[in-house]
Amino acid sequence: ITLIGRRKLEGSLYSNVSQEVVDFEKLDESVAAFQGHDVGFCCLGTTKAKAGVDGFVRVDRDYVEHSARLAKAGGCHHFVLQSGKGANSSSRFFYLRVKGEAEDRVQAVGFDRCSIFRPAVLLCDRQESRPAEWMAQKFLGVVALVFPTALSVPTVTVAQAMLNHVVMPGKEGQKVYVLENAGIHALGQAK
Ligand SMILES: *[C@@H]1O[C@H](CO)[C@@H](O)[C@H](O)[C@H]1NC(C)=O
Ligand SMILES: *[C@@H]1O[C@H](CO)[C@@H](O)[C@H](O)[C@H]1NC(C)=O
Repeated sequence: ITLIGRRKLEGSLYSNVSQEVVDFEKLDESVAAFQGHDVGFCCLGTTKAKAGVDGFVRVDRDYVEHSARLAKAGGCHHFVLQSGKGANSSSRFFYLRVKGEAEDRVQAVGFDRCSIFRPAVLLCDRQESRPAEWMAQKFLGVVALVFPTALSVPTVTVAQAMLNHVVMPGKEGQKVYVLENAGIHALGQAK
């Protein structure tokens, strides 16, 4: 297992994985990091608030596409992309359009199998979350109790669903798999 990211993660949780620190602006310098993996999981993403409009497009679409291309060149045959609910390259809404464009570009890379996860609001304890996000998370935390699959999904559920998905055999002749929020819940709870 290789974690490819822009900074090294510290702690015993990561003691058994390789880590490659890369500069996503100069990703072609890190071709070797992408070599020799069967399956790739891409959870890259930022927010417009943090990165601005251009930065958001750069990270959520361009870095994602570039990573997918290097993974393919390195031998990866199954790519799993974390996208978002409502992603649609024809959408009038900026966020959904950029996410949809990223999906289209990753599909175009031509993996044997390409899986697109479209979770709703991700529930996690994020240190850097801003107060508005914190409020939304607390509120959704309650809503999520009442409507567990509609509006949100915990990050651990998404991770478990991704793992369960990649070990399942694909369907004959089907290359692209799209998992919506309800399907992620169902698959993420299966052991
Ligand atoms: C790392 O591997 C060792 C040996 O297999 C295992 O005992 C340990 O629990 C692993 N650590 C983590 C964080 O997975
Ligand atoms: C994507 O957005 C377009 C424009 O709003 C819409 O016509 C189309 O039905 C959407 N596609 C999906 C799969 O929702």
